[in-house]
Amino acid sequence: MGAILTLLTDQEALEFLAAHADEDEAGRSAYWREELENFSVGADGGVAGRAALGNASAKETTFNKLAHAFLQWPLHRLAPFQDRADSIRLGRLIAARQRRQITFDMLRQCFTLALIRKHLDLGSTDEANLVIGDGYGVMASLLLLHAPHRRTICVNLTKPLILDLAYIRQGVPGIRLALVTTGDEMKAALADKGIRLIGVRADDFQAIQEAAIGLAVNIVSMQEMEPSVVEQYFNLLRGNKARQTAFYCCNKLYKKLSDGTELRFDDFPWRDNDSILHNTICPWSQWYYDKIPPCWHYRRGEKRVIWHRLALLEMDPT
Ligand SMILES: C[S@@+](CC[C@H](N)C(=O)[O-])C[C@H]1O[C@@H](n2cnc3c(N)ncnc32)[C@H](O)[C@@H]1O
Repeated sequence: MGAILTLLTDQEALEFLAAHADEDEAGRSAYWREELENFSVGADGGVAGRAALGNASAKETTFNKLAHAFLQWPLHRLAPFQDRADSIRLGRLIAARQRRQITFDMLRQCFTLALIRKHLDLGSTDEANLVIGDGYGVMASLLLLHAPHRRTICVNLTKPLILDLAYIRQGVPGIRLALVTTGDEMKAALADKGIRLIGVRADDFQAIQEAAIGLAVNIVSMQEMEPSVVEQYFNLLRGNKARQTAFYCCNKLYKKLSDGTELRFDDFPWRDNDSILHNTICPWSQWYYDKIPPCWHYRRGEKRVIWHRLALLEMDPT
């Protein structure tokens, strides 16, 4: 008889991650080896130091809310999708529950959800969503609220994973989560109908192979990974238990890491037989706003282009 698996769940899982947060990880690129030195994260998601994970502004004053709403309004037209308003509604709900401002970092991910909803029906309960390299769990929370019947798996480096999971627990109150380190633990987590959120450390990514990934999302994080890690994730997506995996990938066309490693979106291991549903410059990643007139700015220059592609990947036999 096999040993009975005890999954780490909920607060216990976060405490385990916090206890292991400073251990080295193979999945860290030169960029993340440096950045992760700059902050620490507690099991409650509290951050000390400077985290390069996007903006989780806690400035909730009426003035701030109005200023963001005013500056964001003209940018809504960048996402002319039927489900934009509903996706923004979910984003506002998450921000309110997390007691923070809906920043443009959140809004652009609402736009992404609206684009995905235009092309895909996330109705299947047998398949899971996978978010690779989320930040403050924004995309995972949006997916969990939009498709409550589907599991969402978050894979990230340990410290950012604590933040993802802790923020998702605030954005989706009452959600049950499990931390999974092996394929057998993944099977056990998937067998437990009460668990809707599954956390995986980047170095344990192989465990995800046991899940059926209907949709995977990667937003501006593959551009900060070593090419070998990007390849690992593509192999995982092509070889998981789903009949078909859709992949939304939004990253710089070109980026040079601090150790000289060069990354090119077009060199990611795409295949001619991938079926492309959407493939353009990502307009809402190209624009940003700040206090400096004229307040709205476009990232110009070849090296600042952020591309997004939604593709049905050619699958490998498992
Ligand atoms: C710039 S942040 C992107 C945050 C968010 N997706 C967004 O759009 O704002 C990059 C993310 O990639 C994650 N990351 C870096 N290396 C990773 C790896 N090997 N596996 C999974 N995630 C990784 C980082 O921890 C971080 O959460």
